[in-house]
Amino acid sequence: MTENQLQFPQFFADTSDLSELEKLVKLDIITGITTNPVIVAKDVQGGDPINGYKQLATRFPEYPISIQLLDECEEELFEHAKQFTAIGPNIVVKIPMFGDGRGLKLLPRLIAEGINTNVTGLMSAEQILTVLQAGRGKGPTYVSLFFNRIKDGGGDPGSEINRSRHLIEHLDSKTRIITGSIRNPSDVLDAVMAGTNIVTITPPIFWAMINHPKSVEFIAQSQAAWEEMIKLR
Ligand code: E4P
Repeated sequence: MTENQLQFPQFFADTSDLSELEKLVKLDIITGITTNPVIVAKDVQGGDPINGYKQLATRFPEYPISIQLLDECEEELFEHAKQFTAIGPNIVVKIPMFGDGRGLKLLPRLIAEGINTNVTGLMSAEQILTVLQAGRGKGPTYVSLFFNRIKDGGGDPGSEINRSRHLIEHLDSKTRIITGSIRNPSDVLDAVMAGTNIVTITPPIFWAMINHPKSVEFIAQSQAAWEEMIKLR
């Protein structure tokens, strides 16, 4: 990608809330769904998370749905990844970027099983370089960079996205960058300008991107002026 070229980004919905998802799906601008244990714990509220994942996979079969592994030993991670993929063909297994390299060891095993993967919790292009090495040119399907957590740690998310995109393109990998940890509509634009392939966005941020109070004011004024004119005829 040269500096002046932007490619159309994809938007994923960063939620497991079924009713919010139904509303976003109707807009026809999302192409995938991401979840994590914090999101699911909030949305499923004491219910069975596996049932929650099954509901998501059956209600939205056309979308890749990322679900995240927990903090376990490598063999348990492998077993749970296989259980997750049995939920539906659209499931993508999110592998946390564990500091001891467990996720890097797991990645080629899941790729060899034909499982779609999303390495998550990434804060730097250097981490992504190790992920790409572990994938040996065959993946992962996605890497997830966390925009505001990078900022919280004193980093520059735009630079990490840009350097990661550059790396991926030069290493001839099909891996796609998902930028998450979005807290403001402007973060979405910044991530797109920096070269992310995908931004995963929570429903409130989606609606904040669409609904501007000054647009509402303008539409109300237009309507009132029109109705006033009709009254006078
Ligand atoms: C991305 O896949 C994650 O679900 C999410 O965006 C993490 O963001 P947070 O910083 O709000 O936890």
